[in-house]
Amino acid sequence: MASTAVVAPSRRRLSWAAIDERIGISGLAYPVPAHANGVGYILGGITFFGFLILAVTGVWLAQFYHPTPATARESVVYIMNVAPLGDIARGIHFWTANIVMATVLLHMGRIFTTGAYKRPREVNWLIGLGLLALTMGLIFTGTVLKWDQEGYEALGHNVEAGNLIGAFGTWFSADFAATLPIIGRLYLAHVVILPAIGTFLLIAHFLLVKRHGISARPAEADAAVDGAPVLARGGSTFVAHLVRMAGFGLALLAVTTVLALVVPAGLGDRPIPGTETTKPPWMFLVFYPFEDWFGLAALLWVPAIVFGVLAAMPFLDRSPYRSPRRRRAFVALGAIAAVAAVLLVIYALVTVPQAHVQGAMG
Ligand code: HEM
Repeated sequence: MASTAVVAPSRRRLSWAAIDERIGISGLAYPVPAHANGVGYILGGITFFGFLILAVTGVWLAQFYHPTPATARESVVYIMNVAPLGDIARGIHFWTANIVMATVLLHMGRIFTTGAYKRPREVNWLIGLGLLALTMGLIFTGTVLKWDQEGYEALGHNVEAGNLIGAFGTWFSADFAATLPIIGRLYLAHVVILPAIGTFLLIAHFLLVKRHGISARPAEADAAVDGAPVLARGGSTFVAHLVRMAGFGLALLAVTTVLALVVPAGLGDRPIPGTETTKPPWMFLVFYPFEDWFGLAALLWVPAIVFGVLAAMPFLDRSPYRSPRRRRAFVALGAIAAVAAVLLVIYALVTVPQAHVQGAMG
């Protein structure tokens, strides 16, 4: 009888080279300039890690939250007092949102002062403005979801602002869908619509950063405009940059955890329809005085003007130079705008809340 010897398949060792051949991790070790690892140039990365923390803690909170007017606030009370890790997850979510708002503004300030919105990065500046609007939209919808006095008033302002723009604002009115209260739609916006748009914008933002490379330091960029030889890119790698970003991300998590333990996220009283006793979160305070002076319509045209001017910046600031000292007029304008914003916020903080909204909504 012929023998039927079985030939054992040769065993291959699972090596780094074998893994890399399949998923190409070493492709991430491309050169990036060393200055990309400085704090000013890593603020966008810190913001990104902040969004990751928000996503994870948000998914946890969503396990216990009820998006209906009758039960929303009570479910937040449940999260704070009963749900496992609820209070800490809510605190980290709250503090990370606040810090992310600050890092977005600082990131934008860095790009403005270093003139990094100039050719060829104009479109990425515009995508960034979309991300700024989106961050504010997430914070606005998150504020409403608590369904306390502050959240209810925030929604009231939005419903009225929506009424002012007619058909375009229908989504904010109770008439849009008789079967679902507005809070249900804002919840959908907070957990699905805005994160989905944000993911799309972030992918576009990162692809363009990869395409253009991080901008050179202004002095080097200006020297190149004046004819000096362009320095070769490099000094660090994207992997080292990513590790540094992750380090900042972990530090952010540590800081927000401590803050959550020491200063837990607050919750106001049950809303009383028809009263206005609160002020908006700090990132919206800059618009608040205009509402006092010009009425609720200012909530539409002031942000429109601010975003319009910001969008125009790369097309107005057209010289090829990027150092602040070679763009004195624009940097002075930016500084005046920043001081004005701080003064408006201080004014908003010291004034007594006024009634701006006419009706109540459910
Ligand atoms: C909201 C979330 C945002 C995230 C997560 C984000 C993320 C990033 C990251 C990781 C970079 C690489 C370099 C760096 O960190 O500085 C970057 C670059 C850039 N971002 Fe953002 N960004 C955001 C918002 C914005 C905003 C609001 C603007 C401006 C309106 C903006 C405009 C730009 C521009 C022009 C660059 C290229 C800068 C350069 O090459 O020096 N980004 N962003």
